[in-house]
Amino acid sequence: MRLSSPSEYKVTMTEQCQQEYSKKKKEPFLIVQQSSGLSGQVSLAGAKNAVLVSLASLLLAEGISVLHNVPASQDVHTMLALLKHLGVQTHFDEVAKIVTVDTRGINRVDVCPDLVKQMRASVLVMGPLLARFGAADVAVPGGCSIGSRPIEYHLSLFAQMGVKIMHENEWVCARVSSVTGLQARRLVLEYPSVGATENILMAATVTPGITTIVNAALEPEVLDLVALLKKMGAHIAVVAPAMLVITGIAALHPVEHTVIVDRLEAGTLLCAVAATGGHLVLPDARAYDLDIFLEKLRAMGHSVTVGTDGVGVELIATANPRAVSFKTGPYPGFPTDLQAPFMVLQAVATGKSLIEETVFENRLMHVPALCAMGAAIVCERSDRARVTGGARLQGAAVAATDIRASAALVIAGLIANGETMISEVHHWLRGYDGLQKKLNQLGAHVQLIGQEYK
Ligand code: UD1
Repeated sequence: MRLSSPSEYKVTMTEQCQQEYSKKKKEPFLIVQQSSGLSGQVSLAGAKNAVLVSLASLLLAEGISVLHNVPASQDVHTMLALLKHLGVQTHFDEVAKIVTVDTRGINRVDVCPDLVKQMRASVLVMGPLLARFGAADVAVPGGCSIGSRPIEYHLSLFAQMGVKIMHENEWVCARVSSVTGLQARRLVLEYPSVGATENILMAATVTPGITTIVNAALEPEVLDLVALLKKMGAHIAVVAPAMLVITGIAALHPVEHTVIVDRLEAGTLLCAVAATGGHLVLPDARAYDLDIFLEKLRAMGHSVTVGTDGVGVELIATANPRAVSFKTGPYPGFPTDLQAPFMVLQAVATGKSLIEETVFENRLMHVPALCAMGAAIVCERSDRARVTGGARLQGAAVAATDIRASAALVIAGLIANGETMISEVHHWLRGYDGLQKKLNQLGAHVQLIGQEYK
């Protein structure tokens, strides 16, 4: 295998990769009309965050693997482009939602800077590449709108496993010693980072000995990765309190796996229906992945019923919602990815609420747009907002600042008087596969203008 150095890489970006990312597309936008009482039943897409890491994990095995329930969101296309860049053959049947990945042709271990800029989850290929090829060169992701989002936890844990980490300009070059190989360790995470847990977990599956990840993130998407890796032959135990214990084996084998449904799409749909005063049935929702979020909906006065064994959720919205305060946190806390959509509900409910964002330091970027639509929200700090409910929202021209902010603005548009035009819609397209169509199925009026993929 040819290992391209960072400087060499800049001139050797594959044609495929260039084509994928040099397409200058006209930026699409969303038009949302006020739509009351959204009602009906919809099925959920596969979890975008689970799919991204699942795709990365397939690099661990040589051969052909198949993933089912894969959403055709832009981040998934980006991860597929990354895999192609590495020499993997991929096929995505977007109708059947099936991705086939053939890893037999991997011929490089560097990650396009363009890809890392497009999607920070690109760093998730580091663990598998280090485990299988002993090397990974990844352009350092910069900060993004929701925070600085460093990857020092990933790097420091890899270093503890014996990986030499070198910083060259904008690159991190990681090398496993050919003498010692990867070394199993007891690794303690200062904070249960989802990405760091996933990266180390993947590398540890083929590291001889027992690796323990203490204070591991145990989000449903991480546990889906555990299930997938076990199907590939990995030996992993989830042990209280929040530990992953991995007994390394020589090699993993290819796999066929169905990705879990998206709890964040479920939460977003529930927020949209609660906001518009309707009735929603999500037959395949995994309610136990959303416990605290569902409790908060109930505390607002909405009726939430969970199906047998936690499968399926029915929401009947109250006509008089009460505002509730909430604080985001690692799973099973309130999901940071639902903070923005849930804030919209507080803006129009009766009463005041305090919203605290503890996962990302700067994830209230949607507040100015919501205020432009008439919400009464004051940010006391970059991670704490006070909301005075009872606002009557007005349609406006607003811009999305991140994936989940785009969902919040769509929900705000559904309850705002008149028409809302949302720009910077690439965020929406990154995170959701045709969610506007599902909303329209429920009676919403959301139009995506200028989108080339769908
Ligand atoms: C993942 C999810 C994202 C979700 C987040 C938290 C994917 C593709 N994305 O992101 O949707 O909002 O989990 O549930 O799965 N941190 C550091 N140093 C590090 C790593 C993280 O300081 O090395 C900090 C981050 O800046 C952030 C916090 O830890 O403040 C949580 O980040 P992390 O759990 O790693 O999020 P991601 O894996 O990037």
